[in-house]
Amino acid sequence: MKTRFTDEWIEEVRSASDLVDVIGDTVPLKKAGANYKGCCPFHHEKTPSFMVSPEKGIYKCFGCGEGGDVIAFVMKTQNMNFVEALEYLASRVNIAIPEQSDEVDPDQKVKKRLYELNREAAIFYYRNLKNAREAYAYFRKRSLSIETIKTFGLGFSSDEWQEVKEAMLKKGFTEEEMMQAGLLSKSEKTGRTYDRFRGRMMFPIQDIRGRMIGFGGRVLDKGEPKYLNSPETKIFNKRFNLYALHLAKKDARREGLILVEGYMDVIALHQVGITTAVASLGTALTKEQAHLIKRYTDQVYICYDSDSAGQKATERAIQVLLDAQMEPRIILLGTAKDPDEWIQRDGVESFQQAIKTATYFVDYQLARIQSKYTVKDDEQRVLCIRELTQYVQGLKDRTTREIYAEHLARDFQVPKGLFLGRAADVPRAKQREPAIHKEALVLKGNSRSLIQEFLMMIHEKPELFGELKIPPMVVAFIGSGFDGYASELFPLLSEGMVQEPEEIADYFAERFEKEREMLYTSKTGFSGEISLKVLTDYIKKIHLQYYRGLKKDREGLLQSIPMRDDEMRKMIILEIQEIMRKMNDLGTM
Ligand code: UTP
Ligand code: MN
Repeated sequence: MKTRFTDEWIEEVRSASDLVDVIGDTVPLKKAGANYKGCCPFHHEKTPSFMVSPEKGIYKCFGCGEGGDVIAFVMKTQNMNFVEALEYLASRVNIAIPEQSDEVDPDQKVKKRLYELNREAAIFYYRNLKNAREAYAYFRKRSLSIETIKTFGLGFSSDEWQEVKEAMLKKGFTEEEMMQAGLLSKSEKTGRTYDRFRGRMMFPIQDIRGRMIGFGGRVLDKGEPKYLNSPETKIFNKRFNLYALHLAKKDARREGLILVEGYMDVIALHQVGITTAVASLGTALTKEQAHLIKRYTDQVYICYDSDSAGQKATERAIQVLLDAQMEPRIILLGTAKDPDEWIQRDGVESFQQAIKTATYFVDYQLARIQSKYTVKDDEQRVLCIRELTQYVQGLKDRTTREIYAEHLARDFQVPKGLFLGRAADVPRAKQREPAIHKEALVLKGNSRSLIQEFLMMIHEKPELFGELKIPPMVVAFIGSGFDGYASELFPLLSEGMVQEPEEIADYFAERFEKEREMLYTSKTGFSGEISLKVLTDYIKKIHLQYYRGLKKDREGLLQSIPMRDDEMRKMIILEIQEIMRKMNDLGTM
């Protein structure tokens, strides 16, 4: 068999591929001594019997017997043959893949033609720019120098239907090839092909090796879509490429990479000497792009647009990068819309300063959480602390958790242990049992009448009680004078033992006479149609009143507990959080 891979090359790929990293992409692994352990991807199991030995470079499942090296793993899990698996692994660790002879990959010949075709098209668009005064003026208006236009090979497609097609036919390319490269579109009706890009500024897109793989085309003024990109082709796969990485990679190891949203942002930054900017190609950052980045650097700066879409994209990108074991920093744009605008407005020094002071992702995310709450309000403060706690607990690294818990504890004046989700280190002897009783809370007047009205309605329509989605809690009736009555009435009603108003009186006979008297004779009352919805609203209000009172009470209690009594305070704060969660639930039901 003729092979283009030497044994040495294969060994290089094998040893450069981190087995734990490769397997970790598809199987969550936990360290177990010198090995790693996880649930076997080859058979169904709940308790892990799949072992990975980075030392030996092999994996083995003690459940189903499956085992092998890194190449075998990729072949089996990704359904690849030996050659494909090697290519995949080689590109993962940035090892050059030996050119393939045509017999091995019939696609190779086609791909080569498509790269050439795209290059010719890019040259065509670039030359075109000279004749298109309007387009040229547009680039100048956006402060792009001739040097920059050259570096990025920017061009223009005229508003013609057969221009690129004819030019490329002359160069010896076929219509079929142009379709395959995505330079032409086909009319569904007539079956005729025409130029895909018309009247657009052309941004050629190159892969890491500098090969022309596709285009982005921007309208000159307004129009939809603003950017039209090449479709996915044999050589253009958006997931696996980043705009300008072929230019940015040389400085990436030293300076890291800056992720921006737009082609124009990349170009504006490179023009002023910040040559490490790259952009994804009109999609959110992908896992594949993160792996691509990781071949060059671990230091990523995210500088997306400042609008809410940009903020959301930032959150997503942080997650994708974290999943690829990179800890990004965020460059905050302040009042600028995007990096391009920043550079034009404030100049390069200001941006360079912003890179130096970029925000570590943890600070960024903590600030985002805090910005959602007004911390002066106690209720909001507790909700805020709860969300922060959840976030801190989710951080992978223990030191990071400790340090940020410390910061937050200081900022919020609460024990550090709260953010770590464990009791603070209070000596055992000092801890006491929580003195939390469900004592009667005296209800306010308006709550009392709510309760009275609710009961009056129930007297009229007892059959509705069983249908209430929120079963009334007797505890919320304490202090109204009706709690005793309610505690006996409610079980009857929910079990459907009484259905008619008269049956209530019959059932209780001489008991709770005073209560029922009050309900029958009361002047106040709900005057509209008694429906399930009305009853539900009453119950919500009654429960809310109850929780409000309870919360106030616990807050008072908290005030009286000394700061050093961490454990106790924590319990109360947790209870307050729980109360607020219930209040929240009621509010959103
Ligand atoms: P922007 O609208 O922010 O583009 O979209 P930009 O590069 O900053 O362009 P200017 O400054 O307005 O001229 C960001 C990126 O999203 C993709 C493109 O990759 C663009 O660079 N995009 C945007 C599309 O693919 N299609 C669109 O219609 C819009
Ligand atoms: Mn822009």
